[in-house]
Amino acid sequence: MTTLLNVEGLRAGYQDSIVLQDISLSVNQGEVVALLGANGSGKTTTMRALTGLIRPFGGKITFAGQDLLAVEPHKRVDLGIALCPEGRQVFPNISVEENLFLGSFCKRSRPDRKQTLDSVYSLFPKLAERREQKAGLMSGGEQQMLAVGRALMSKPTMLLLDEPSLGLSPKMVQILFGAIGQVARSGISILLVEQNAQAAFAVASRGYAISMGRVTASGTITELTKSGALQSSFLGSHQPAATA
Ligand SMILES: Nc1ncnc2c1ncn2[C@@H]1O[C@H](COP(=O)(O)OP(=O)(O)OP(=O)(O)O)[C@@H](O)[C@H]1O
Ligand SMILES: [Mg+2]
Repeated sequence: MTTLLNVEGLRAGYQDSIVLQDISLSVNQGEVVALLGANGSGKTTTMRALTGLIRPFGGKITFAGQDLLAVEPHKRVDLGIALCPEGRQVFPNISVEENLFLGSFCKRSRPDRKQTLDSVYSLFPKLAERREQKAGLMSGGEQQMLAVGRALMSKPTMLLLDEPSLGLSPKMVQILFGAIGQVARSGISILLVEQNAQAAFAVASRGYAISMGRVTASGTITELTKSGALQSSFLGSHQPAATA
């Protein structure tokens, strides 16, 4: 198994507040890895450090063997890293198709963006139906599809998904995660941030639980479920969950 993303001893935060105390994780080529934790545990901050939105205070990040921290944020998309941000952040006043094309401006994706658009439309037929519609008029679930589709337009090898299930109905979560499973089967590696552990388990093979900026448990989904590590992480405790 080849490691695609490797994070070691990551420390990061905002101005003088340290949010990530010590995050180490890895994602192998073709793997879906879940990053699970309660509100405020540092999941989005980890994503920001990976995309370069914030500059870490310490630690190492490598992507495909390359020192990612030496690569300027805007060039990381050309390396094959795409973020689907928390809260979707689609542009409401332009069409679905225009939103999608905004995801394909980097060098790696520009030449065959029409072809990539077709593959996004076959993954999410709803987006094809609504291609001319203003993005702001779509439902929450459709906007989430659009946000995932826009990230895929850059032809990533690694997709960072920040809480795609947020605010969606169980039915919509099922549809969306079905599509995420298809993306994974196409060979794209995924780091999936979720609070909905059950949804994450539908597609991930391994996971990390984080609490207060530290990894508190890691392993296969079965190991994480059995150990009670997830319960303690969601309760914000470092102690193992009590057995009933
Ligand atoms: N721009 C910012 N400036 C200062 N502090 C911030 C900023 N963004 C987040 N934080 C703080 O960093 C901590 C971790 O936040 P983060 O957004 O990474 O958590 P999260 O795990 O993604 O939570 P959620 O599940 O609610 O999205 C929180 O205490 C938060 O208040
Ligand atoms: Mg978050």
